Amino acid sequence: MRAIVVSATGGPEVLTCTDHPDPEPDPGDVLVDVAAAGVNFIDVYHRMGRYPLALPFVPGEEGAGIVAAVGEDVRDFAVGDAVAWASVPRSYASRIAVPASKLLAVPDGVAPEIAAAVTLQGLTAHYLTHSTYEVKAGDDVLVHAAAGGMGLLLTQIAKLRGARVIGTVSTEEKETLARQAGADEVLRYGSFSEAVRELTGSGVHVVYDGVGAATFDQSIASLRPRGMMALYGQASGPVPPVDPQVLARNGSLFLTRPTLTHHVATRDELTWRASDLYGWVASGQLRVHVSERYPLEEAARAHEDLEARRTTGKVLLIP
Ligand SMILES: NC(=O)c1ccc[n+]([C@@H]2O[C@H](COP(=O)([O-])OP(=O)(O)OC[C@H]3O[C@@H](n4cnc5c(N)ncnc54)[C@H](OP(=O)(O)O)[C@@H]3O)[C@@H](O)[C@H]2O)c1
Repeated sequence: MRAIVVSATGGPEVLTCTDHPDPEPDPGDVLVDVAAAGVNFIDVYHRMGRYPLALPFVPGEEGAGIVAAVGEDVRDFAVGDAVAWASVPRSYASRIAVPASKLLAVPDGVAPEIAAAVTLQGLTAHYLTHSTYEVKAGDDVLVHAAAGGMGLLLTQIAKLRGARVIGTVSTEEKETLARQAGADEVLRYGSFSEAVRELTGSGVHVVYDGVGAATFDQSIASLRPRGMMALYGQASGPVPPVDPQVLARNGSLFLTRPTLTHHVATRDELTWRASDLYGWVASGQLRVHVSERYPLEEAARAHEDLEARRTTGKVLLIP
């Protein structure tokens, strides 16, 4: 099999494609031929060493494919099944061993590439809109990077729940995509908190902020009293330490820094979120926009484009 390996942390150039022996599945594992691996911003943080991993490592946490073999303890999956996963390491590869407890069955109405594109970011968008802050009909919701992988899904799911969505984007092309996903208002970053105030009066109920350093202060200023600041990422860099008084001064706000792992901690929670997600995709309620497909060996180019804000929607690697 082939896999991308990081032997030293650094820029995109440290992503090198090498030949490996096939992974040895444990009794509870499923061996999968990878149809597509999802590229996520967390892969960039791992590659840079911002979230340190032991070296060398195979990056990637998401993908979909077809079961090639099952371990002797596996009961729920069989050779030939279509499957997908999120938060499973070593996904930038042509083959992977996935613990059956983390594997998801992909229904017929969802193509493998779409499953690879929607699983990690879709599960994240699900917990952010259903658990971190339960979006309700009539809520005002601010979604940053609204044409990104997370942003297009968050926008559509918040609209499914009846909210008014205000998105931020950096370009006209991205504005068009955000509007196609259902965003009611689309802003540039500039002085977005003033524009949010003009649109809403008292501010939004929740901000979904995966941009981090560049947007944090204005995100706080965009919230209505008792609003929720869901800081779920840091594409522009980490947010410096926050004085809790800021939350009091701006209206008894809530601040959380959630991650996917804690929201798919049990099999029931994982399958609940995935069945909603794949159901919406199969019924056409959730559209998955794959902007770029790169051959596995061009993982470096995929990272360069993601970091340079050149991509929209989902980025995939095809082994
Ligand atoms: N906590 C969790 O459970 C979880 C799970 C999945 C993802 N995430 C986070 O979600 C965020 C989005 O991830 P994604 O994979 O969907 O990426 P993405 O949104 O497709 O790409 C990042 C986007 O962020 C915007 N951005 C603003 N300032 C930027 C900067 N200085 N550098 C790079 N991008 C910048 C860009 O959109 P514009 O050009 O429109 O500004 C860019 O396209 C990341 O922070 C990621 O870590 C968190």
